[in-house]
Amino acid sequence: MAYLRWRRFLELAALDRPWVGETFIRDRHKGPTVSPAEHWNSEYQAGTYRRLLLSDQRHHHRLLAGLVAEHADQPRVLEIGCGEGAFYDSIRPFRPARYLGVDFSAQGVDMARRRLADNLRPGVVDFEVGDGKRYAVDEQFDAIVFPECVEYLGDPIALLEHYAGNLAPGGVFGVTQWLGLTPLRIWRTLKARTEIVDEAVVSAAWGGAWQVWTCRLR
Ligand SMILES: C[S@@+](CC[C@H](N)C(=O)[O-])C[C@H]1O[C@@H](n2cnc3c(N)ncnc32)[C@H](O)[C@@H]1O
Repeated sequence: MAYLRWRRFLELAALDRPWVGETFIRDRHKGPTVSPAEHWNSEYQAGTYRRLLLSDQRHHHRLLAGLVAEHADQPRVLEIGCGEGAFYDSIRPFRPARYLGVDFSAQGVDMARRRLADNLRPGVVDFEVGDGKRYAVDEQFDAIVFPECVEYLGDPIALLEHYAGNLAPGGVFGVTQWLGLTPLRIWRTLKARTEIVDEAVVSAAWGGAWQVWTCRLR
């Protein structure tokens, strides 16, 4: 816990001072983070990501859901990288008029469908298998969210540009990511090219912390 808090201290200091992160934080990631769907399938099958459903792992989902709901009553939401549907648990109390969760892991989507079977309504609440880098859907959404997955989806600006046509007027992109050196680089890339609507860091008592923000392309 003490180590995590020390890391958080450095990462918070690095939010707007890149040199702090680059000097004092050891980067565990070497190069881009790309894992094929098969990797995620076996992780979901092994139950590795069951922990993401635990209450103290989802504060960032709750905050993002609240921010999204402030922009639109009963928001229409597209979630990329939905996995087992953990974010749906947080947006559901806001009674989204439309929710579409997409993940390229067929195993993750299957588990979401089974876990949330009582909530599924075709055309209203759906989970679909698709590659989040290039998923195409002919619908408008009040929010397009990327909880804890933007680092796996390639160039973040190209990603938002791909989905820009799916944002309804006044709509927002929403991102959450684990607070860390590589995610901080993504944050700075996006911050330079977007209008940030809201930004926050949310911490759990056990030492975990996530960045949460909503934005629009400039
Ligand atoms: C750390 S998990 C986060 C799951 C969920 N969003 C959450 O917050 O609990 C990352 C997710 O991104 C998905 N993912 C990674 N690359 C993807 C891609 N190219 N297209 C769609 N989903 C992808 C993985 O399958 C996995 O479900």
